[in-house]
Amino acid sequence: MHLELLKVKGGKKLSGKIVASGAKNAMTKLLVASLLSDKKCTFYNVPNIGDVEITVDLCKEIGAEISWDKKEKILQILTKDLKTSYIPQRFSGSNRIPILMIGALLGRTTEDIIVPTVGGDQLGKRPVDFHISALQKLGATIEYREMKKEGAYLAHAHNGLSGSLITFPFPSVGATENAILAAVRAKGTTIIKNASIEPEIIDLILFLQKMGVRITIDSTRIISIKETKQFLQVEHTVLPDRNEIISYALAAISTQGRVFIEGAEHQLLLSFLDKLRETGAGFSIQKTGIEFFYQGPLRGGLHIETDVHPGFMTDWQQPFVVLLTQAQGSSVIHETVYENRFGYTHTLKEMGADIELFHQCLGNKECRFSLLNHKHSIIVRGPTELQAKNISIPDLRAGFAYVMAALLAPDVSTISNVPFLDRGYENLTHQLASLGADIKKVAVSAKKYEQHSLAADSKKELHLHPRVS
Ligand code: EPU
Repeated sequence: MHLELLKVKGGKKLSGKIVASGAKNAMTKLLVASLLSDKKCTFYNVPNIGDVEITVDLCKEIGAEISWDKKEKILQILTKDLKTSYIPQRFSGSNRIPILMIGALLGRTTEDIIVPTVGGDQLGKRPVDFHISALQKLGATIEYREMKKEGAYLAHAHNGLSGSLITFPFPSVGATENAILAAVRAKGTTIIKNASIEPEIIDLILFLQKMGVRITIDSTRIISIKETKQFLQVEHTVLPDRNEIISYALAAISTQGRVFIEGAEHQLLLSFLDKLRETGAGFSIQKTGIEFFYQGPLRGGLHIETDVHPGFMTDWQQPFVVLLTQAQGSSVIHETVYENRFGYTHTLKEMGADIELFHQCLGNKECRFSLLNHKHSIIVRGPTELQAKNISIPDLRAGFAYVMAALLAPDVSTISNVPFLDRGYENLTHQLASLGADIKKVAVSAKKYEQHSLAADSKKELHLHPRVS
């Protein structure tokens, strides 16, 4: 059996043009939302990535008919009837999408629903507690059952769901989506307070409105949904992936290059662009996209606090930290969305980055992790020269940060666990190579792959990382 490693020889300036893909974190949810309806939905600008593949399989499993023209990026889905409401074990832990199936299926069937997830303490440590309590508020009965190897959620609403008031303690993206999906077919009106208003959620809301749903959103994070019984055929263009856009922008700037990203939308990137400007990097907003460029030494001295939209997104901090290793001065980053999302800095430090981790909230605001013992703030000092390394990727965004670091290191870095990148970045190797990077995938034997993973010694990080795509 052969497996793939990524080989990156750094030191090249990236420059050129790429086209933004559709957003992973919108497309996967739109597919699940389409299951609410018995009419055809057509999506344009569909990203050809692993997480969409997984979601397509998931939808087919329960009875969706899907045709996907990957070249044209068009996908059609029609779910006339549900074949089953049991999600097979093989989807357990594949990503965060299966849990959203509960919300969609509760609206479509009064039968029992089974959704597997990785075992143990699901309502506690790896939290989906906001999802569960929101669905319970709408009248669902949900329990978590230990199975032989893994556990599963058993859910049902034998008498249907009823609209209710849901107030989230924190504006969770996934829990807001689950609540919206379930609310579409719940009797009466559902009000969701302290809802997430990320652009991908707005895209979901726009899609649902096209589908015939009565749904509104106000300026104070309140979403209101009325019961919908009849659905319309829909055509929908998926919004561009803001995470992909900032990733290529930061990769190009950190190598002192420039990239024009066609389809990049200004309004998705406000807080990112403000921080980018503070570093002295350049950007020019044009009619068809945004150009990002290096224009002289980068400045550190930034203070970034990750936040929910419209704040600085948590998925942006990893590549931004790599950029800051190339900037003059010390910068502070306070992660306020995830309690433990700096595990990846360990490898960056081994590559030569000067990064210090802190339990305290380094910033103006005391976040919900202030009294917990998580290292959720860092100081990055730059500029530093990065050295090549054997690396094993623990998750998608850390993975891109490592690729960026490898692009800055003059020697060859070898990277394993590449499928993590393929789940969220379409054609990553090809895109970077087209910008001038010296990067290629190489097939190796299982034995060589194992040796690489051992040398990369990723274990130290694995337990620090939530695999949170
Ligand atoms: N949380 C709870 N209980 C819950 C749900 C969330 O305590 O029931 C906590 C989480 O532990 C976390 C915070 O709330 O500390 C935010 O989690 P959220 O639910 O908002 O995140 P998510 O829906 O699981 C999505 C994206 C992530 C992105 C976050 C934040 C998808 C598939 N994933 O995750 O994207 O970081 O929102 O914007 O949409 C990625 O694309 O690589 C990725 C990780």
